[in-house]
Amino acid sequence: MGQIFPRNANLLMRLSIFAGLLLAVELTLILGVYFRSNYFRQINVAIEQPVPYSHQLHAGVLGIDCRYCHISVDKSSFANLPATEVCMTCHSQIKSNSPKLAVVRESYATGKPVEWLRVHRVPDFVYFNHSIHINKGIGCSNCHGQINTMAVVWQTQPLYMGWCLNCHRNPEKYIRPRDQVFNMDYVQPANQLQVGADLVKQYGVNKAQLTNCSICHR
Ligand code: HEC
Ligand code: HEC
Ligand code: HEC
Ligand code: HEC
Ligand code: HEC
Repeated sequence: MGQIFPRNANLLMRLSIFAGLLLAVELTLILGVYFRSNYFRQINVAIEQPVPYSHQLHAGVLGIDCRYCHISVDKSSFANLPATEVCMTCHSQIKSNSPKLAVVRESYATGKPVEWLRVHRVPDFVYFNHSIHINKGIGCSNCHGQINTMAVVWQTQPLYMGWCLNCHRNPEKYIRPRDQVFNMDYVQPANQLQVGADLVKQYGVNKAQLTNCSICHR
């Protein structure tokens, strides 16, 4: 049998396989960057809600405590969103005819909850718990940023596994006195590592188990 392909076909073949592989690697990298990007994660992207409710006004200017609305945040794994009745304790009198509150009044009249859009979400295979963090001196602002300055809430942290672990490996870098958990303007002291190490001991934070896969993947 004579040669069907010219001699250098072999080389061409190899080159094209190589190019194909390169392309695959590049595509993976590009997709990887995309899925890890702030754009895909919606970090720093304000989510428009069905009611123009503002934390900057209510939690900031008016100074209403987070727990007035997020009642279960220090008692359970879940930080609830407020029922319409909570808004109506004030808004049956204040701005009771405002068009900006029409959706709230309708919800109150029909009993159908306002459909707030989720901003933060970890995948279903991850277990998260608010109360344990709150009770061990991790502030809302460590994970949500300065909510009291936001007219519309956005996600300020990536919520990757690596982000959780960064704190779970060294909680002394972030932990604060319990009475500062709800202080959105809290600034760490210059000697945070020393204060932090003391608080880790005082609050009985069990550092050794904090990186076990099974605490977050149960
Ligand atoms: C008067 C009621 C009220 C108060 C007080 C309040 N919130 Fe909210 N919060 C809401 C409502 C309503 C939503 C849903 C709409 C939105 O995201 O803006 C919400 C949403 C949030 C979200 C986003 C939830 C998600 O979907 O991921 C965070 C985080 C949050 N609040 C934190 C706080 C913190 C921290 C404080 C205290 C500084 C606070 N809130 C005080 C009513 C309140
Ligand atoms: C403790 C009282 C209080 C509670 C509870 C409260 N608000 Fe308000 N809200 C106010 C005050 C005070 C204003 C500012 C009124 C003004 O500008 O004179 C306001 C203003 C607003 C406005 C702007 C209205 C306008 O026409 O400018 C919206 C929208 C609003 N609130 C939504 C909500 C929602 C939604 C909830 C429940 C999650 C809620 N509020 C709970 C006191 C409250
Ligand atoms: C250690 C980080 C961390 C701290 C501290 C923290 N949160 Fe969250 N928060 C999260 C994560 C992660 C989610 C998404 C949870 C999910 O998808 O199940 C979330 C979700 C929420 C939600 C939406 C409802 C829910 O439970 O999923 C609200 C409201 C909220 N947080 C309010 C608060 C308030 C108020 C504080 C302070 C008292 C606070 N958070 C402290 C990480 C934190
Ligand atoms: C800024 C610091 C910080 C961040 C960020 C953080 N954690 Fe934690 N986490 C802690 C501390 C402190 C404790 C308390 C540990 C203890 O009491 O031994 C804790 C406890 C927990 C526990 C309970 C462990 C138990 O004993 O049952 C779970 C589950 C958990 N974290 C999940 C997460 C997840 C998931 C994330 C990311 C979405 C996260 N955490 C982000 C500091 C943090
Ligand atoms: C402090 C909490 C925490 C601990 C401890 C933890 N994970 Fe995760 N893990 C997460 C979170 C949060 C995500 C979701 C990340 C995301 O949304 O990208 C995740 C995602 C994953 C994924 C999906 C792929 C990915 O990267 O998104 C795998 C696989 C995984 N974890 C394995 C492990 C293993 C194995 C361990 C133990 C060595 C471990 N995890 C320990 C919080 C944790």
